[in-house]
Amino acid sequence: MSLPKHIAIIMDGNGRWAKKRGLPRTAGHKVGAETLKKILTHARKKGIEVVTLYAFSSENWKRPQEEVQTLMNLFRTYLKEAREFVEKEIRVSFIGEREKFDADLKEQMNRLESQTADFKGFHVVLALSYGARNDIVNAARQLATKAASGQIKPDEIDEATFAAHLSTAHMPVPDFVIRTSGEERLSNFLLWESAYAELYFTPVLWPDFDEEAFDKALKVYQNRDRRYGGLSNKQKV
Ligand code: IPE
Ligand code: IPE
Ligand code: MG
Repeated sequence: MSLPKHIAIIMDGNGRWAKKRGLPRTAGHKVGAETLKKILTHARKKGIEVVTLYAFSSENWKRPQEEVQTLMNLFRTYLKEAREFVEKEIRVSFIGEREKFDADLKEQMNRLESQTADFKGFHVVLALSYGARNDIVNAARQLATKAASGQIKPDEIDEATFAAHLSTAHMPVPDFVIRTSGEERLSNFLLWESAYAELYFTPVLWPDFDEEAFDKALKVYQNRDRRYGGLSNKQKV
């Protein structure tokens, strides 16, 4: 099978990676941020068009304040290097509850999005304070508002209209969802969009996830048979 156009990654296992080494959890997040850069460069080289990364869930605010603070500072450092995305002509967008972040972070996110909006070859989507249920509820609320004001008729609401009101409306749905660290769940990530995505779980912890691990995952994807409820060519014989 061909390459996935859009890969979505649940970057999990930073805390356990650090704990195994007797380090504070935050040390794992720091190494994890380096892994992210490496994997993005590699994914682009491989010809992947869109990569979405689950970096912070809407539930991760529940973590100890110190850990949340370290993560915020890491995003801050990451966004300060935004020039690199512009130089490499990478389109960057953000999904999630942007209003929850400090003003400087919000401003950096908005700026990077608009500076890179027209780049076509490679698209990186960062899910920050993202929760799929919240995104679905937001879409429902927007549609209800439009229906109440007569802008849309309830009968006109179909899957395409609904999807157009999600924060992911501007990208293709993911073909392949990778989760590292051995956990086998979606943890509120792209619930609508992943309806027919191929799922891949690896025990490798995110800071250890490298080019080789990525290629191994790609190979698994290429051997999958995507049927979408129908029959594959092999089955039709
Ligand atoms: C993923 O690693 C990063 C975030 C959720 C921000 P974790 O911090 O969840 O690491 P584990 O799962 O505790 O090992
Ligand atoms: C999901 O990981 C969120 C990210 C990787 C950013 P979590 O570590 O928060 O998920 P649970 O708590 O194990 O489900
Ligand atoms: Mg985790």
